[in-house]
Amino acid sequence: MAQRIRKTTVALIRELRQPRIWVKELSPGARSRLLKHFLALEPSDRLLRFGSHLSDESITRYVEGINFERDTVFGVYNSRLRLMGVGHLTFAPSEKSAIAGATLKARVAEFGVSVDASARGLGVGSRLFQRASMRCRNADIDTLYMHCLSSNKVMLHIARKAGMEIHRDYGESDAYLKILPADASSVMQEALAEQAAMLDYTFKSNLRLLLRAVARLTGTGRRK
Ligand SMILES: CC(C)(COP(=O)(O)OP(=O)(O)OC[C@H]1O[C@@H](n2cnc3c(N)ncnc32)[C@H](O)[C@@H]1OP(=O)(O)O)[C@@H](O)C(=O)NCCC(=O)NCCS
Repeated sequence: MAQRIRKTTVALIRELRQPRIWVKELSPGARSRLLKHFLALEPSDRLLRFGSHLSDESITRYVEGINFERDTVFGVYNSRLRLMGVGHLTFAPSEKSAIAGATLKARVAEFGVSVDASARGLGVGSRLFQRASMRCRNADIDTLYMHCLSSNKVMLHIARKAGMEIHRDYGESDAYLKILPADASSVMQEALAEQAAMLDYTFKSNLRLLLRAVARLTGTGRRK
């Protein structure tokens, strides 16, 4: 028992020491930050992310409608706790999905991702994608699906790099990733990744509170 605890602690410390992008699973409390993230996307990015030019009102409805019990939403925070990247993993019964024939499992997963323009090219999108496939693996899902425009070179590059099979059709592309079955190490890896992201989040929010308190005490805070 003591050896297992030591091994887990060592693995967690190793995970934390790596210069990493921390991907955290989000809860309904993150809705206002999610809304800010999506509203900051340029019209062309909204088209790439949602497949149509969503208005601010439609984006607000989309964020209000996210079902955190059924789906999983992942986020990458910056030091000011702004969401720099968001990945939305939706689960649906296979027989009702567009890829019904692709799996024998009861459910399939679909992934949508967006990264703030200021944080692109740093690996955030790829990390969100890896985290989503890890969740699928441990949730007994064997097919991860992504739908994007064929002109979306960056997303198709990420998909190809992850080993996804890509089908093109009339300017649109469907990408599928076959996921390996879970094992003890994949479950442990996911638990560690979540723990590390939680520690990172707690550290950033405590630091923020501390800096605000110092600013109030010294009168150097931003005036509203
Ligand atoms: C697609 C998106 C999520 C990528 O996020 P990101 O954080 O910039 O992605 P990463 O930094 O992890 O990876 C970008 C990769 O694309 C490559 N890339 C960049 N421009 C490219 C281009 N024009 N053609 C091909 N590959 C390109 C980069 O070299 C990098 O590859 P590498 O890791 O092998 O070096 C982001 O651009 C975005 O939010 N776009 C708008 C919304 C969208 O398209 N969503 C996807 C549809 S669901």
